[in-house]
Amino acid sequence: MMAGHGDDLHAVGGPARHIPVLLAEVLKALSPKAGEVIVDGTFGAGGYTRAILASGAAVVAIDRDPDAIAAGRDLEAQSEGKLRVVQAPFSTLDEQVESADGVVLDIGVSSMQIDQAERGFSFRADGPLDMRMAQAGLSAADVVNSFKAGDLARIFGFLGEERHAGRIARMIESRREKNPFERTLDLADAIETHIGRAPKDKIHPATRVFQALRIFVNDELGELAKALFAAERVLKPGGRLAVVTFHSLEDRIVKRFIADRADQVTGSRHMPEAQTRLATFRKAGGGVTPDDAEISANPRARSARLRAAIRTEAPARAGDFAIFGLPKLPSPKLPGANRPGER
Ligand SMILES: C[S@@+](CC[C@H](N)C(=O)[O-])C[C@H]1O[C@@H](n2cnc3c(N)ncnc32)[C@H](O)[C@@H]1O
Repeated sequence: MMAGHGDDLHAVGGPARHIPVLLAEVLKALSPKAGEVIVDGTFGAGGYTRAILASGAAVVAIDRDPDAIAAGRDLEAQSEGKLRVVQAPFSTLDEQVESADGVVLDIGVSSMQIDQAERGFSFRADGPLDMRMAQAGLSAADVVNSFKAGDLARIFGFLGEERHAGRIARMIESRREKNPFERTLDLADAIETHIGRAPKDKIHPATRVFQALRIFVNDELGELAKALFAAERVLKPGGRLAVVTFHSLEDRIVKRFIADRADQVTGSRHMPEAQTRLATFRKAGGGVTPDDAEISANPRARSARLRAAIRTEAPARAGDFAIFGLPKLPSPKLPGANRPGER
């Protein structure tokens, strides 16, 4: 079963401020030093960035959410040139910096995003069915009100591991004709009414659909895969990669990437030169999870897992999505339309 933020978001009340997850372990894996440059691909509330700056290293901090960037401007101004904050998707991290001694990613949504009902990530409070971290592009309402039932079922089934994916998708398709879905609570209530809720169910029946919509709307798996390839291109030999994920689909992507890149096939008399593959990373430990004290202080940490690796001197390989074994999802476009800026 997929463990993840989706459960955490809706089953557990959280603090208004974002508490950095696995901070000590992330710092150990990154081991930032004065004179180094570290890319924090998920600036959020700046928890990791502040701690990295305190080590004396410079930080290039990226976030796709304009609110996170705006809130980081003061820290940037006080940093005496040590911090640059950039609004961008982290898949472009190698366009924001020439080279780096460390790259850290803390995947998912921040407490600020979840706790603001108007961002539409949660059904604990009513809000617009939005869920866009970047506050631009296709919203969750666009997906729910225009994608075919078959496509919705694939999104809910794969990205939410929702058992009733087909039933929920067909219910959405028949209801939206007269009455489109615009609000988080409306969608959550419609799902609960349609599939019911057994007394033993720990989570709300809409939790998995909300998780799937969030991952789809923000192309979270594609972003993560591209960011790993970008980190490989930008990290110096000896550079550290540290990635914290919150559910099994993301963790699998990181695990498969590190396993693929740590795998080395060197030529022999019997092997053609073309089959030689040098390891571009060395695995640095297994998956690290929070201890009980961290989980009780911050329940949102409970499904977190850190994986780390160290860049070797070998040239970066071509980015090939096949290593992740991801199924094909519907194109993130409104049927019959192009995304803004596309032809
Ligand atoms: C879990 S929070 C990071 C919290 C941060 N480590 C801290 O200690 O405050 C994740 C942040 O990453 C951002 N984010 C998620 N996916 C992103 C992407 N593909 N590109 C850029 N930012 C992204 C979100 O907007 C959010 O602010």
